[in-house]
Amino acid sequence: MARNKVSLAQRKSLVEAAVAAMKNAYSPYSRFKVGAAILSSKAEVFVGCNVENASYGMTNCAERTAIFSAIAASGPKLEIRAVAVVNNKNVPCSPCGACRQVIYEFGPDAVVFFQGAHGPKQSHITKLLPEGFRLK
Ligand code: THU
Repeated sequence: MARNKVSLAQRKSLVEAAVAAMKNAYSPYSRFKVGAAILSSKAEVFVGCNVENASYGMTNCAERTAIFSAIAASGPKLEIRAVAVVNNKNVPCSPCGACRQVIYEFGPDAVVFFQGAHGPKQSHITKLLPEGFRLK
């Protein structure tokens, strides 16, 4: 599969959008605010934040919020080119396993930008999620 190229300017604006969305996080239990932004193949940007719940398992991560918001706003033909994830503690935070599978559904060639152990990092979704599940 041809690797999609995301420019430095696109990366920067995606990270900025994620930082803005992070401020809306609802995370009274963990106090860990996360923001995510996705870039679609139509050059649209959609954002999300984590939304926690007193029943902890009902929590929705920032990445899935962004993807579900994108579908709600723009329809089911979403193609994700890139995802940026940021957090308020500036600690390593790559998408969780569930979010990797959801990113892969709409972005099998997506690039993911996140905070790694040694600073900002980028990784292809198939590196983060080898052999992701598909029904079609
Ligand atoms: N969280 C995200 O929103 N995205 C991630 O990539 C990792 C974790 C959220 C879920 C929960 O609200 C908080 O961070 C602590 O796990």
